[in-house]
Amino acid sequence: MVRGAALANEKPMALALRGTLLTPLAEGGTQFEVDGLLLVDAEGTIRYAGPFRGAGYRGAVDDVRPNLITPGFIDVHAHFPQTRIIGCATGPLLDWLANSVFPEEARFTRRAYAKAVAAELVQRLLHAGTTTVALFSSSSPSATETCFSALAEAGLRGLVGLTWMDRNCPEVLRITTPSAVAASERLIRRWHGFDHDRLRFAVTPRFALSCSKTMLRRAGDLANAHDLPVQTHIAENDREGEATLRAHPYATSYLDVYDQAGLLGPRTILAHAIHLKKRDWDRIGESDATVAHCPDSNFFLGSGRMRLNPPRSRGVRVGLGSDVAAGRSFSMRRAMGSAYDNALAVGEPVAPSELLRLATFGGAEVLGCAATTGSLQLGKEADLLIVPLARAAANLDAALASLIFDTDNLGVLRSYVRGHRLF
Ligand code: GUN
Ligand code: FE
Repeated sequence: MVRGAALANEKPMALALRGTLLTPLAEGGTQFEVDGLLLVDAEGTIRYAGPFRGAGYRGAVDDVRPNLITPGFIDVHAHFPQTRIIGCATGPLLDWLANSVFPEEARFTRRAYAKAVAAELVQRLLHAGTTTVALFSSSSPSATETCFSALAEAGLRGLVGLTWMDRNCPEVLRITTPSAVAASERLIRRWHGFDHDRLRFAVTPRFALSCSKTMLRRAGDLANAHDLPVQTHIAENDREGEATLRAHPYATSYLDVYDQAGLLGPRTILAHAIHLKKRDWDRIGESDATVAHCPDSNFFLGSGRMRLNPPRSRGVRVGLGSDVAAGRSFSMRRAMGSAYDNALAVGEPVAPSELLRLATFGGAEVLGCAATTGSLQLGKEADLLIVPLARAAANLDAALASLIFDTDNLGVLRSYVRGHRLF
């Protein structure tokens, strides 16, 4: 911690916010200060996060009390081209993909359409308080380019992937392996590492059922050649699992399809992970892959319920995904609420402080940016929200109750990335 006396003598900070401070801590636990202070320098780095009294800071402060100052939310799994189809109740999964998702994603070859939806997506992420997001685009390279541009312009942090698929889909969504590789290489050159790593490219084979063995193998090669994140779906639905084993008869399990393709590693994000066996979890732990828990989506499509204990007991990193449009909201507050319900339903309740961790620091761990973001701590980049609560919070439990569950108003007042105000 910076000592109070040192702060008192420094020139004014770029951002000095006084409000109720709530943040998970990288080392474990949660910090709550009913009268807190957050100081951010001109580079967007946090110089102080703690009680107002005791900081000894004499510069001007922006007093936002009794609003909450909390880390920006991190959504580790969502689909850009599904922004306009939230709530299409045509599930389960494979029917929903065929009837609602594929017809909509087919529209994204039109640049004007992709551009209009990208603008809507950005507005919805900002309103929800998401500051970092891992997105699937469609299989259209131009739509993916549009998605990157929209995030770049909005100041958001994230991963975006061109969605690879060469089977079991309408012709207009099919992309061949050579085209997918070439388009991805162009997108990598243009966007991967943009603005000091604010944006990154993720290799994104949709799921095993929509990719040939060759396509998956090349996806693994590309990820390993450039040290890229990988995102895909796994074991979401029973019928999907059976069809996957028929489509990839050489594999010993769903997970093994990805393993044989070289797609499992510490930068891999596996969405859903509901119907996995013990030995699959062991292998995920061994490979240091990560999991996107998408409880609201799992409820909406009736996919099943993921337990948090198998990854937890193996030290597997877990973040929370909205999975729009199978998830019904971009709000990670809604996702936390669904994660709570899901945990109760499987008989392994989860504490509200753990839900906040999943939606912030846990997501940063999954996306490989936990040294930079995910908590409000000295030396980290200032990705934060100012959230109005239904009731002013006098203690930690009250703050968590309001933030996570009392969500008639889901909007945030402001959000910042690296100390720059986005909203
Ligand atoms: N599996 C393959 N594609 C998708 C998708 O778009 N959403 C969900 N929830 N699961 C998938
Ligand atoms: Fe998904």
